[in-house]
Amino acid sequence: MKPGVFLTRALPMQVMHRLKTLFDLKYNPHDRSLTKSELIRGMRGRPALISMLSDPIDAEVIGSNPRLKVIANYAVGYNNIDLKAAATRGIVVTNTPGVLTEATADLTWSLILSLARRVVEGDRLTRTGRWTGWHPTQLLGTEVSGKTLGIIGMGRIGQAVAQRGVGFGMRLIYHNRRRLPHRVEKKFHASFRPLRALFTAADILSLHVPLTRETRHLIDRRAFDDMKRTAFLINTARGPVVDEKALVKALMNGKIGGAGLDVFEEEPTVPKDLRTLPNVVLLPHLGSATIETRIRMGWMVIENIQAVLKGKRAPNTIRS
Ligand code: GLV
Ligand code: GLV
Repeated sequence: MKPGVFLTRALPMQVMHRLKTLFDLKYNPHDRSLTKSELIRGMRGRPALISMLSDPIDAEVIGSNPRLKVIANYAVGYNNIDLKAAATRGIVVTNTPGVLTEATADLTWSLILSLARRVVEGDRLTRTGRWTGWHPTQLLGTEVSGKTLGIIGMGRIGQAVAQRGVGFGMRLIYHNRRRLPHRVEKKFHASFRPLRALFTAADILSLHVPLTRETRHLIDRRAFDDMKRTAFLINTARGPVVDEKALVKALMNGKIGGAGLDVFEEEPTVPKDLRTLPNVVLLPHLGSATIETRIRMGWMVIENIQAVLKGKRAPNTIRS
């Protein structure tokens, strides 16, 4: 008998095929997130749950299924899961690190370059037929080469963003919970800075920390006060790392130059004020959204579930 798996959203075709071959798969047939009661009903009696970052897996959900052995999150971030509630019941939680690093770093750079070179504004102008011809001072942006890139969170993704920064001829400064070994700093010509010094020096500030109690609203009003009036803030990490209300104020008052956001505090809600600002680029949480990465994330989820169900240690177990 194949083990029962519940999947909260349909994944790429190749992954669905493999899941159906290996497991007794039940999944959400709708093209939307499940409600809590649908989720609880769907996972009933199944030893494995595949969750999305958009599914809150709280103590009530976890406690509803005494058969549950593993929650395999289809994401690197796992702030949507109550790790304590899972640990209390001996349920293993896994994520998908590594396979989405390059995709997320590429998307981060899409935001950086789109903002710096006003790509979205230019597209809008051209598309709406309002372009009247080459113009010496139209839509002037800023160069990234020679500027200072500040990275908060120098894990895998932060480092991949830094590496691209080296290619673009940027000066690199970073902040991390722990300072990196000299050899890694040298690789990116990156120097460590305390947070405030990073805020004041960065021309582009990019966030690559997980969402935790410590990082919630890490970027707040005081941070915006410290930042350069020309600085761009890039967030491809998690929305609540930035105080969104303070960000909107900072953008409206010209405290910073612009923002490139792939994540928001209350997804999928994006404040109207943010949507009407010209100096922001807004994306619908696309960090890992390449076909290659989304398939690799699927293989990883499968490996993790198989390991747990065979009584082995899952390769991507999250320590709580
Ligand atoms: C995406 O945001 C992820 O955590 O995988
Ligand atoms: C996630 O993969 C990170 O460590 O940045």
